[in-house]
Amino acid sequence: MSAVRTIKVDLGERSYPIVIGSGLLGGSFDLTEYIAGPDCLVVSNETVAPLYLETLKACLAGKTVESISLPDGEVHKTTDTMHTILDKLVECGANRDTTVIALGGGVVGDIAGFAAACYMRGVTFIQVPTTLLAQVDSSVGGKTGVNHARGKNLVGAFYQPKVVAIDTDTLVTLPDRELSAGLAEVIKYGVIVDADFFAWLEENIEALVSRDSAMLATAIARSCELKAVVVAEDERESGRRAILNFGHTFAHAIERCMGYGEWLHGEAVAVGMVMAAKLSGIDSATVNRLCALIEKAGLPVVPPSVDADKMLAAMANDKKVMDNALRFVLLRSLGDAFVTSSYDDDVLRSLLSAST
Ligand SMILES: NC(=O)c1ccc[n+]([C@@H]2O[C@H](COP(=O)([O-])OP(=O)(O)OC[C@H]3O[C@@H](n4cnc5c(N)ncnc54)[C@H](O)[C@@H]3O)[C@@H](O)[C@H]2O)c1
Ligand SMILES: [Zn+2]
Repeated sequence: MSAVRTIKVDLGERSYPIVIGSGLLGGSFDLTEYIAGPDCLVVSNETVAPLYLETLKACLAGKTVESISLPDGEVHKTTDTMHTILDKLVECGANRDTTVIALGGGVVGDIAGFAAACYMRGVTFIQVPTTLLAQVDSSVGGKTGVNHARGKNLVGAFYQPKVVAIDTDTLVTLPDRELSAGLAEVIKYGVIVDADFFAWLEENIEALVSRDSAMLATAIARSCELKAVVVAEDERESGRRAILNFGHTFAHAIERCMGYGEWLHGEAVAVGMVMAAKLSGIDSATVNRLCALIEKAGLPVVPPSVDADKMLAAMANDKKVMDNALRFVLLRSLGDAFVTSSYDDDVLRSLLSAST
């Protein structure tokens, strides 16, 4: 096994490590040190379980391991699916010592985390993320939840895991489009808080796209580190944490207008970041650098053709709207983002109209 890196998420008594390495699963990493009781329930899905469930079990020697496999897809991120997890926990006589382990992408992690937060008012939760997006974003920071017919992630809880175990080898089976979608969030960290990391990504984007394992591990580790710092400053998103939503006001509107699933979240974020950078009024050379990097990551930079009023209405529906004003994460410069409800309305309109 190559080098294992550990990053600490500093949240007082809810602090936890993110452990990153190639070959982490399969017995070389002892997950049991984070599991107090004798029982665990692994929550995975029909795509990931056949690939990695047996491998994960090797890290759980000595524990009684039950598992449940959810249907795959964002459409199943519902209270109904969460109930199947709760039913399984009740069925296997789970108690407060039981540990829930999420094995999969962000959908599995978000539902399993919410189930863990609710069962008996909270049981131990462990994240084993297997998509790049989940490894650099959704598994870190403690947001869990499910969708409601009226909106994404409308029902949920802040609930931190005990450990996040990232085996970079799981990315080998990830479809190209999903890998690129994860790279959008990686690029986001560079743009909002770390211009040097952005420059590193520019240097190494080809290696990342071609899945160079050491480079991916470095990019994942730096992304987790940056997210951990922001989350530690503002666990419940009362202020600073909102910068992690850079590009997301546009992205959520694109996803809503196109219908969820048409565009992957990371693809919508890629376009949303370009729009947010333009709305920021930063120099065109920086916007061009951002576009070039996004394109090299295999992601779109041009928004889909959607009516400007429809996009504005979708944005007004976004959770980040406060006091009737749209709020955006904008850039002072590369690596320096801030949240504001003050922006140039004409530029916003022209950006939205440019797509039709
Ligand atoms: N909690 C948070 O802070 C947070 C942050 C960002 C996103 N999210 C949520 O995350 C979800 C998106 O996560 P995602 O992009 O991981 O999507 P996903 O969980 O749907 O995974 C994408 C696809 O890849 C498959 N897959 C997963 N791992 C694989 C592997 N190693 N090999 C092959 N296939 C694999 C999945 O089964 C699925 O078909 C959304 O629901 C979003 O709301 C949450
Ligand atoms: Zn996102």
